[in-house]
Order: sequence, then C-alpha cells, then structure tokens
Amino acid sequence: MKAEDLQEEIIICRCQEVTKAEVQQAIGQGCRSLKGIKNRTEAMMGLCQGRTCRRLIERMLAPYQQQAPVTPSYRPPVRTLSLHTLAEAKEDGEDAC
Ligand code: FES
Repeated sequence: MKAEDLQEEIIICRCQEVTKAEVQQAIGQGCRSLKGIKNRTEAMMGLCQGRTCRRLIERMLAPYQQQAPVTPSYRPPVRTLSLHTLAEAKEDGEDAC
C-alpha cells in the first residue's frame, strides 16, 4: 500500500469512523460548510459531538472558504449515569451531576 493510500485512510472522526477520504469526497461534491460535511458524512455526530474532529474538518475546509467557518450546533458529551448512583445522590442530598 502506498503512503498516499494510507493518508486517505486516516480516521478524521473516530466516533463515527469517518476517514479523510470521505471528508475530501464530500468537499469535492460541493460541501463547503461544517453542517454540509456533517450531514453528508455523519462526522461530528458521535459521542463527543465533534470535539475531536471538528477542528480537523475546519482545517480541511479552510482552503475552500472565503470567510470564517460557521460552527454548527452541537450538544455537550453525554456521560452514562446509573440509576443506582442517581438514587444514592438523591438520598444524600447531593447533586448527581
Ligand atoms: S470524533 Fe467526531 S464526533 Fe467524536
């Protein structure tokens, strides 16, 4: 396998397993915004909601944009919390979060 091929297989979004080649393909098909890339590839839709991959995708989009990228809305990462932990916190009067 050539070094160029390996470059294409680089994972940009590890939550959704989106590769650099997939993002470049979306850009080549006309996506020029983070939202467009998000809708086309599902990058930035994983557990971290783009915390890791958004900057990489912004860098890939930068040469194609004439203005600063508009950051799409995203939700903060979600942590699982067992009901047992929640019930214990409620009994102790602590805030569970
Ligand atoms: S790395 Fe892309 S959503 Fe987490």
